[in-house]
Amino acid sequence: MKVTTIGTGYVGLVTGACLAEMGNHVVCLDVNPDKIRVLNEGGIPIHEPGLDAVVARNVAAGRLQFTTDVDVAVNHGTILFIAVGTPPGEDGSADLQYVLAAARSIGQRMTDYKVVVDKSTVPVGTAEKVDAAIREELTKRGVPANFAVVSNPEFLKEGAAVEDFMKPDRIIVGSDDEQATLMMRALYAPFTRSHDRLMVMDVKSAEFTKYAANAMLATRISFMNELALLAEKVGADIELVRRGIGSDPRIGYQFLYAGAGYGGSCFPKDVKALVRTGREYGQELQVLNAVEEANDRQKQVLVDKVVARFGEDLAGKRFALWGLAFKPNTDDMREAPALAIIEGLTQRGAAIAAYDPVAMSEASRILSTNPGVSFCERAEHALADADALIIVTEWKEFRTPDFDRFKSDLKQPVVFDGRNLYEPMMMKTLGIEHHPIGRSG
Ligand code: NAD
Ligand code: UGA
Repeated sequence: MKVTTIGTGYVGLVTGACLAEMGNHVVCLDVNPDKIRVLNEGGIPIHEPGLDAVVARNVAAGRLQFTTDVDVAVNHGTILFIAVGTPPGEDGSADLQYVLAAARSIGQRMTDYKVVVDKSTVPVGTAEKVDAAIREELTKRGVPANFAVVSNPEFLKEGAAVEDFMKPDRIIVGSDDEQATLMMRALYAPFTRSHDRLMVMDVKSAEFTKYAANAMLATRISFMNELALLAEKVGADIELVRRGIGSDPRIGYQFLYAGAGYGGSCFPKDVKALVRTGREYGQELQVLNAVEEANDRQKQVLVDKVVARFGEDLAGKRFALWGLAFKPNTDDMREAPALAIIEGLTQRGAAIAAYDPVAMSEASRILSTNPGVSFCERAEHALADADALIIVTEWKEFRTPDFDRFKSDLKQPVVFDGRNLYEPMMMKTLGIEHHPIGRSG
């Protein structure tokens, strides 16, 4: 099939590359010429494990192309994925300007039947707006409307995006158009070979499902973070509690890790957007309000622990900080807890020596105006003469470090373990002062 992705970011690029991998001919469009130049020169503008090989293979096979030319892109695909950003507007609602601009660009050019797929995360009712925008442009041109708008939200996780796309738990297709549904089924058939994972539903339910999923996951995390704070106070161990409750299949083990708060381009914005949708319809989503508040507080928990240990005035103190990206295996810094933690510490006068395996260039761009932060080539370099180590992101390489270096390189062996990487008992045995989350250190 001929497919176009409009927007070549995390979702558009992964979608385009993985669909090309199954034999489709894909054109990926972006308005950002730098992104398209990098891709056309054989590079990948984001860090996403396994994506480079899929892209290279399909470009070489002539099935995957990148362009800034809207005419070429719209004419190419019979199925057009809109995969542009939907950032939060000032009031927290999803800003649809990029989605609607993409819709208009389709209406301004299309000449034959198109299935327009909302892949971006968009509030209930957006498909209708996309439909209206395309229709309006077609009317201006006097061209008959011959298209369907389908909702097909994406559930991939950054850092595991290719695997998630290739082996989806489910594929949601919201469609009221029989021909479009058949085409979506055919497009996704190679991804659902072992059993049918494609669910067809009405468009609004599909749009809502995406927000419900992210809100549910964010709720689990905030609730665990809240329980962790209480566990610390009462002397319980949140890791044991996690295993104790996760063993109940009604709860399950995944997404129950307490930590330094959730970040990323999606949970924070999607929680806000759903709260906003509730308000539009006169319903206050009280649980979600609390989820957001709890997360804002959680991003300060490591700062609070540092202040409790070293005092409110941190002038003259230096901290090693491991992990800047909002989660491992990505260079994405959007809403990363590390940013709030660095701000909280440097505002109090501390100096930060930071290290991340892949997010440092993005982090140094974002933090360029903060003179309190320096970046180190290697994790252990950050330890030199630091008053303590703060771990914010659980990269694998931090799991079994040379603990002797904590004792020889830090001024005192003090570790604030924001992702519960180390066992408190072991740290005690090693003589390292350990401050985990929700466990007695
Ligand atoms: P992104 O910022 O990485 O990429 C969006 C791209 O769209 C950018 O490169 C931008 O230049 C381009 N763009 C904007 N307007 C355009 C236009 N009119 N024509 C062509 N290109 C245009 O965003 P992302 O992380 O890929 O997210 C895209 C959508 O997918 C969002 O709604 C997001 O919530 C959703 N989503 C993201 C993830 C994720 O893990 N990142 C997962 C599931 C869903
Ligand atoms: C999340 C969802 O998991 C995807 O299904 C969804 O498609 C995506 O949002 C989206 O809509 O964009 P992502 O943001 O890439 O994916 O990353 P997650 O693995 O969900 O992690 C999000 C945040 O939650 C990270 O900061 C992570 O550290 C935190 N987290 C996750 C916890 O604190 N505890 C956990 O147990 C799990």
